[in-house]
Amino acid sequence: ARRPLIAGNWKMNGLKAEARALAEAMAARFNSVGSVGFDMLLCPPFPVIGTVVGAVAGTGIAVGGQDCHAKVSGAHTGDVSAAMLADQGCQFVIVGHSERRADHGESDAQVRAKAEAALAAGLVAVICVGETEAQRDAGQTLRVVETQLEGSLPAGATAQTVVIAYEPVWAIGTGRTPTLNDVAQVHGAIRAKVARVLSAEAAAEMRVLYGGSVKPDNARALLGLADVDGALVGGASLKAEDFWAIGCAT
Ligand code: 13P
Repeated sequence: ARRPLIAGNWKMNGLKAEARALAEAMAARFNSVGSVGFDMLLCPPFPVIGTVVGAVAGTGIAVGGQDCHAKVSGAHTGDVSAAMLADQGCQFVIVGHSERRADHGESDAQVRAKAEAALAAGLVAVICVGETEAQRDAGQTLRVVETQLEGSLPAGATAQTVVIAYEPVWAIGTGRTPTLNDVAQVHGAIRAKVARVLSAEAAAEMRVLYGGSVKPDNARALLGLADVDGALVGGASLKAEDFWAIGCAT
């Protein structure tokens, strides 16, 4: 069975004091219950990764970056390598988030190169895919998502080294979500595509997260879908109570 993963993408939020307080609040909840039925991942901005790693040490909560460069080191001003993230205590890195694709023009090929770098550094790559509203309206959702997967999944990826996150661009930060049927259809198509690109076993075991306006009040329904193995949460991951409630909805 696939163990649910609840991942918080803090995006460009969190000065040191806030980051420490939020990470400590999640750690306290973990420590108060002893064991939970899901994995938790926090993805803070680069400057506070060390702060967050320190705050959750010993709890089982994992920490990840929000992006990485495809190269290990070199003349790439402002960039951060997967090896640096691993060195800071990260176990995961998000690649191909729609905000990276939009703000930094990242292509599927670049996303694949980043995912490969993540794997080479021993990190799990959380590869994001999802259609825009115009693409959904044009009936292109499955084709877009399948093309993104084909272009961005590294060869040799396994369920242990890659997590897929389906994030419809129009559902991010808008309070809107696809219908449960639509989410189920896309997640089923993603799993089928992973089976074709990688293998049946990889597809059966790989976690496919849903992201886009996940809140405590819609989490149970979304996470209850057969092919939804967790959530990638933006806004609601910045409130300890809400993020914890989403985890408890698994
Ligand atoms: P929201 O949960 O704020 O819609 O953000 C989703 C997201 O982009 C997570 O990566």
